[in-house]
Amino acid sequence: MSRFFLLALLVILFIVFSEGSGQVGASDLTDLKCPLRKNLAMLKGHMCQRSCESRNCSKARKCVCDGECGMSCISTGLSCPWPVMIDNAEAQLAQESRKFGDLMEVTCKPGFRMADGQEVVMSHCQGDGKWSITLPCEDVFNPSPRCKSPPGIENGFHEDGPYNIGREVNYWCDYGYRLEGANSLLCQENGEWSHMAPTCHPVNCSRPPNIAEATLVAVHQSEYPVGTVIYYLCNKNFYLDGSNRVICLENGSWSQLPYCRARCPIIAKRSRVIYQGRKLWFHEVPDGLVHHGDTVTFFCHSENKTCSFKAESQCFDGVLKLPDCYDEPTFLRYHLFPKRLVSEIPAC
Ligand SMILES: *[C@@H]1O[C@H](CO)[C@@H](O)[C@H](O)[C@H]1NC(C)=O
Ligand SMILES: *[C@@H]1O[C@H](CO)[C@@H](O)[C@H](O)[C@H]1NC(C)=O
Ligand SMILES: *[C@@H]1O[C@H](CO)[C@@H](O)[C@H](O)[C@H]1NC(C)=O
Ligand SMILES: *[C@@H]1O[C@H](CO)[C@@H](O)[C@H](O)[C@H]1NC(C)=O
Repeated sequence: MSRFFLLALLVILFIVFSEGSGQVGASDLTDLKCPLRKNLAMLKGHMCQRSCESRNCSKARKCVCDGECGMSCISTGLSCPWPVMIDNAEAQLAQESRKFGDLMEVTCKPGFRMADGQEVVMSHCQGDGKWSITLPCEDVFNPSPRCKSPPGIENGFHEDGPYNIGREVNYWCDYGYRLEGANSLLCQENGEWSHMAPTCHPVNCSRPPNIAEATLVAVHQSEYPVGTVIYYLCNKNFYLDGSNRVICLENGSWSQLPYCRARCPIIAKRSRVIYQGRKLWFHEVPDGLVHHGDTVTFFCHSENKTCSFKAESQCFDGVLKLPDCYDEPTFLRYHLFPKRLVSEIPAC
């Protein structure tokens, strides 16, 4: 973002803030965006005060948005200096006071313009007790030097010109590349860029993890470039939980991995259960196993043992818990009184 837009944004923010009582509490600000860009603040010579993103301020300070410094503890008694001398420009207060957030209008003298072509710009009183810097006014017939085009980078790009003094230029890497170094350069007063250009490095995912009871379908490599797609297949009788398609993400991690879930053995062997809508003995269920995620209904005795009620349990990755109320009939009861088994007596 150019310095001008940043300033314009701040001006709008401060106009909004200074409406009404002019005193703004932290709670009033929580809905507004207050971007924290401490490096940029530092480059501009804006001294950040203690942050109140996560801590309260002391009594004499208020939690307010201090531009790129983010939510900060600002002294309530703060005022910016006046009068102010600016080369080739006239300064005028936009209001009587010069408290935090108050505005000062800076107008270039005739024959002078700011490097971005503006004649008038608003400066505001910052949390460090200084006016935010405005671009210097330059002689329209003898403009001050600008920075040269910032260096281009491989597998990345930067913002376009013009590269005026005070201009911040952002760099980005192409998809699949990670930026190393400063992601923005500032065109300094001396016409030089503040930093070396960053570099872009390919991001790789490491070898994909093994998943229990799954077979990986992928070309065997030690590193996989961003965007690589691999597949997992579950072994026979295992249920695929999740997506079998896994992709190498921009941050070098694999997307969500699936699970291969086991079927569950039915432990109740001396009473019938309801499975897939049918009342079955365990040996009537294929392999005596139910699918992951399926629900099985068991029969439990009422307290007086004269009737039965139903209780459900769900198979999860090989485990089908018996409901607490379920009592497995004894060997004798199962063989001698098959009609009196819990699953065979009337329902309550
Ligand atoms: C911060 O202020 C809030 C609201 O006044 C209060 O509820 C909270 O206890 C304070 N936290 C600390 C750490 O003092
Ligand atoms: C990623 O893989 C590419 C190509 O195999 C390789 O040139 C590069 O050095 C790797 N990057 C990292 C950070 O290991
Ligand atoms: C990578 O990005 C994904 C999706 O945005 C996220 O879920 C994951 O936690 C990230 N991994 C790391 C190591 O940051
Ligand atoms: C046993 O309990 C069930 C429900 O709890 C009830 O419906 C039934 O009448 C009771 N039978 C006897 C004999 O008490």
